[in-house]
Amino acid sequence: MDEFNLNRLFDLNGKTALITGGSSGLGLIMAKGLLQNGARVLIASRKQKKCDMALIELEKYGDCFAVAADVTKSEDRVKIVAAVDDCFDGFSILINNAGGNWGAKLEDYPDDGFEKVISTNLNAVFSLTRDLIPQLEKSATDDDPGRIINIGSMDGIHVPIVQRVPTFAYSASKAALHHLTKALAIDLAPKKITVNAVAPGFFESRMTDYVFEHFITDIEDDCPLHRIGRPEELVGIVVYLASRAGAYTNGAVIPVDGGTSISKGRRPWTE
Ligand SMILES: NC(=O)c1ccc[n+]([C@@H]2O[C@H](COP(=O)([O-])OP(=O)(O)OC[C@H]3O[C@@H](n4cnc5c(N)ncnc54)[C@H](OP(=O)(O)O)[C@@H]3O)[C@@H](O)[C@H]2O)c1
Repeated sequence: MDEFNLNRLFDLNGKTALITGGSSGLGLIMAKGLLQNGARVLIASRKQKKCDMALIELEKYGDCFAVAADVTKSEDRVKIVAAVDDCFDGFSILINNAGGNWGAKLEDYPDDGFEKVISTNLNAVFSLTRDLIPQLEKSATDDDPGRIINIGSMDGIHVPIVQRVPTFAYSASKAALHHLTKALAIDLAPKKITVNAVAPGFFESRMTDYVFEHFITDIEDDCPLHRIGRPEELVGIVVYLASRAGAYTNGAVIPVDGGTSISKGRRPWTE
């Protein structure tokens, strides 16, 4: 009778989630959001100290665990897979959020910077996802599929110009991640696992500190809503994708950017 009640639609009690890069920025926000709606959460990021600090905050909201691991290293991915088994008795939600950026002019753009970004934002997502499929599949049902949520970017949809410094590898990695999302969505559907991407616009985090300090007015001008995103606007979409309400959404790339990616950038990098 109350099948459309908010609690029935969005409740995450009994669910378990791994969030890579969950020790700060958007990952930390999503961890709080999932915990506050009943999920148990494991975060994974490189620095033990950042994991420890994050846990102190996150444990206020529910059952949370952390593993210090670099998603680009295969031996660390083994640690992550083992931690999922140790912390949870079933595994329902993988959020591939860890990411990095590198900005430089074309003539100065280093090969190792390009490789580092692609390796973190794309290659590691593929490898970790592949390695966690058995755990997701084991808990998946027709009514409640396993969920993979990739954190892409509006910069994988449009060519970013507002931050003035070109980010070739970042945009390319996120565009590829969006496409990988769709390919995996088709491949994993028979295993009862959905795969979607969220493509955020600008939100406050360490990654955006520099551009907000220097170009916040341009960033706001470039967005049809004339502002940056708020934490709840990211959490809302992620809770939806993880919940009963989002069970039939598959292979979608959902922009959460105030319309920035469909507005025409007006300012060249060189201005
Ligand atoms: N902020 C925005 O406006 C925005 C917009 C669009 C998309 N995004 C995307 O959102 C995601 C999170 O970014 P953010 O803005 O929250 O950045 P952030 O504050 O720099 O957070 C990045 C997180 O990832 C972790 N991390 C980085 N490299 C890692 C690796 N190799 N292995 C494991 N963990 C790693 C970091 O912790 P350690 O340093 O301890 O590893 C940190 O917890 C990224 O994929 C980013 O592209 C952000």
